[in-house]
Amino acid sequence: MAFLFLSDAHRGRIFRDAFARTRPDLAFATDAGEIDPDSVRYLITWTLPQDLGRYRRLEVLFSIGAGVDQLQLDRVPAGVAVVRMVEDGIVRMMQEYATLAVLALHREWPGYVDQQKRGEWRARPVVQAGQRRVGLLGLGMLGQAVLERLAPFGFPLAGWSRSPRTLPGVACHHGPAGLEALLACTDILVCMLPLTPETRGFLDAGLFARLPRGAALAHLGRGGQLDQEALLAALDDGQISAAVVDVTDPEPLPAGHPLWSHPRVMITPHVASITQPETAAAAVLDNIRRHETGRPMIGLVDRDRGY
Ligand code: NDP
Ligand code: OXD
Repeated sequence: MAFLFLSDAHRGRIFRDAFARTRPDLAFATDAGEIDPDSVRYLITWTLPQDLGRYRRLEVLFSIGAGVDQLQLDRVPAGVAVVRMVEDGIVRMMQEYATLAVLALHREWPGYVDQQKRGEWRARPVVQAGQRRVGLLGLGMLGQAVLERLAPFGFPLAGWSRSPRTLPGVACHHGPAGLEALLACTDILVCMLPLTPETRGFLDAGLFARLPRGAALAHLGRGGQLDQEALLAALDDGQISAAVVDVTDPEPLPAGHPLWSHPRVMITPHVASITQPETAAAAVLDNIRRHETGRPMIGLVDRDRGY
């Protein structure tokens, strides 16, 4: 029985060591040519290999990341369980990045970076955290963890999900009606949604128009959720005051794209959070044990919902 690791060599070495320590009975391979395809029960990857069909006895497909939109789920046989990455490292990094983005937008960092380029020494008007309303799209593993980190700053916090949620200190909304309520009361909107048919192109001109004038955006979900032209138009007419954008479509963002040079946009190259191999290996090993003993795996994807 084998585990096939199809990701980068650095993470592969750390996974290999963890598997050797914990599961010496399970063959571990980083090269598909090293093993009999019929021995592969578990596979971890970011995108699907073209020859997925050769792993006829595959039981669990693990995503090396928290998202699964890149996996083309319709190509995965119905009997194979798909599991997204749920591990401490990815959560911690997303907490850091989202806090950085919210604080940067709250304290008008993009505006100060722009002023610095012009050598302009000018204090901008200050808004206290208690008056800056932060709204999160997505209240899953990452959204909830980010809200916990933001709470001590004193921002009024709200969140939106598909199904109803109750979180202490957070005004929770859900469904289409809940979205209107969230947008109407949000000064900094943080997108942490998975990419699904419902969320593709979700951050568009209509949505921006429903935010209070001058609201800011931190987009940390997936590039396909953002209408980039609509964001540029909303920035230029002042409906959106500033944006932090970590994910674009396509990636990399092409050279010369107007988002690169917009004075009120901060771009990072899809680095908000990155799977950390030590903690990820432990999480995958735990899930394999759960699978073997008939217990529910953590991060099991609902193929109908797409996340
Ligand atoms: P989860 O699956 O734990 O949570 C997803 C949340 O989104 C849930 O609250 C879910 O609602 C909500 N949601 C999904 N679809 C809809 C919809 N149509 N309407 C309203 N709410 C919806 O995901 P994670 O928190 O683990 O990750 C979220 C995403 O973050 C990933 O899919 C990935 O795209 C992105 N990501 C980005 C990274 C980066 O570096 N930029 C790194 C890691 C992840 P409900 O609670 O009702 O199910
Ligand atoms: C992820 C990502 O989904 O890196 O983990 O975006």
